[in-house]
Parts: sequence; structure tokens; C-alpha cells
Amino acid sequence: MKAGSHQRAQVRSAFSRASGRYDSAAALQKRVCERLLAGMFPADARCVLDLGCGTGFASGGLTRLFPSARLLAADFAIGMLAAHAAGRDAVHVCADAHALPFAAGSIDRVFSSLMLQWCDPPQVLAECRRVLAPGGRIACATVLDGTLAEIGAAFAGIDSHRHVVSFPRADELHAAVMGAGFVDVSMECGDEVAYFADARSLLQANRDIGASRVPQGARRGLLGRSALAEVLSRLERTRTARGLPLTYRVAWVHARVADGE
Ligand SMILES: C[S@@+](CC[C@H](N)C(=O)[O-])C[C@H]1O[C@@H](n2cnc3c(N)ncnc32)[C@H](O)[C@@H]1O
Repeated sequence: MKAGSHQRAQVRSAFSRASGRYDSAAALQKRVCERLLAGMFPADARCVLDLGCGTGFASGGLTRLFPSARLLAADFAIGMLAAHAAGRDAVHVCADAHALPFAAGSIDRVFSSLMLQWCDPPQVLAECRRVLAPGGRIACATVLDGTLAEIGAAFAGIDSHRHVVSFPRADELHAAVMGAGFVDVSMECGDEVAYFADARSLLQANRDIGASRVPQGARRGLLGRSALAEVLSRLERTRTARGLPLTYRVAWVHARVADGE
């Protein structure tokens, strides 16, 4: 998704609204975050930035990996930051990842789990590169083309609106990381699947993690009852023994800034 400032404002308020329900709806997000943490080098660091920190899934892990570092928890959704601040010891910063309020070279580690897909990746990666010190490292998880395909298929041809935002391909993401000037880039990709008891809870969970940019009321109004019934019935037809699947095609990326740059 190439996010302009108007779309970013929508994403920001969607996440602020979703902050109270996020933790209970975000088991998959937690798994993605834990795998990203598991791939990090636990070396000395003075300052670690959790960018798009949300409610704080990564805080405990980052504190364990970098016990003597100052943890900066940054997010542009004030509701998310408030939920984070309620339970975690960190310096909280309300900031847009496209224009970080940190000096060049002031940070040793940037960690960012499932934020980049709401951003303009080249711009945000360039900002991460700018604030990282020489030898600093970035660990970042995001989603790729193919994510939420079940929702896209359920809405196909129903109306003229987009119901799933577009995500980059793996080669585009890799090029964006290289283009920002990082070296030693490693990228692992894989599918993470969440399962739901029924179609309504699948759509609701998508809203509860802030992933829906169109308010439910407005979308229902646009859809009408019979169109919504068709969407629900199409989702129902994807049922597996574990429930209705919703696929996230995830990329876990690790890279660093060259020493002495
Ligand atoms: C899916 S949540 C992930 C939260 C957390 N990292 C986790 O793993 O649970 C995405 C977070 O990124 C934040 N976010 C999205 N775009 C952002 C931007 N441009 N600048 C700062 N935060 C952003 C949202 O407010 C939200 O808290």
C-alpha cells in the first residue's frame, strides 16, 4: 500500500479505535512478532526503537535481548500508545514513521513488526536507515501480496470498491530494503494463517486489528443486505476443519547499516 497523508490519517484513527480490542484479536500478530524477536542478534545496544509498537507485544522480548538499552516505543496512533504506556516501561513517542523525530545515527536497533504494510516502504526504510548508527541493525516483519486473499476473493465483483489494500511482492520489498542502503539483507517468507469460527468474526477480527480502512457501517450501507449475505456465504465455503482461514503472507527481514558509514 502506498500511503498518502489522507490514507495515513485513516489508518491512524482505525488503529486508535482498535486499540482496546487489539490484543484479543491479534494472536497471529503475536506469533509474527515472536519469530522476528527470535531472529535478532542480542548484542550490546544503547538505544532500541520499537517502531509501530502497538500495544507492546515486543517490549518484554526487546528488554530481555537488550537489558541495558533505553527502549523507545513509537507509534502514530495515540490509542495504541496509551495502551502500551499503561503496562510497559519505555519512552513513549507519538511519531509518524515517515518522519522520525530522532537524530541521525542515534539508534542501535530498529524493530518493527507488522507496521510497514501501512506505510510507504522506501520512505520509512530510508528514515530507519537515517536514524540508525553505523553497524546498527533493523528487524522488520511485514506482509506481502497474497495477504487477506480470502477477503479479496469474497468481495470480488460485489461492488466497485477495493476491500483489501495492496501489498508489495517479495522482490519489491527486498529492493526497497537494498535501495535504502542496508547491507547483509536476509529475508524469510512464509504463510501465517488465522482461523475463525464464522465469517462475521473473520471480518470483525480484521477490523479489530485495525486492518479495515472502511468503517463497518459505511461498508454495510454500500454493500446492501444481499451483497453482504453473498460475501458471508463465499467466506463460509472456504471452511476447513479448523474454521475459516485468513492468510497472511509474511516477510521477516533482517539487515544492517555498514560499519563506519
Ligand atoms: C498491526 S499493528 C502492529 C503493532 C505491534 N508492532 C504488534 O506487533 O502487535 C501496526 C501498528 O503500526 C502503527 N502504524 C501504522 N502506520 C504507522 C506510521 N506511519 N507511523 C507510526 N506508526 C504506524 C499502528 O498505529 C499500529 O499500532
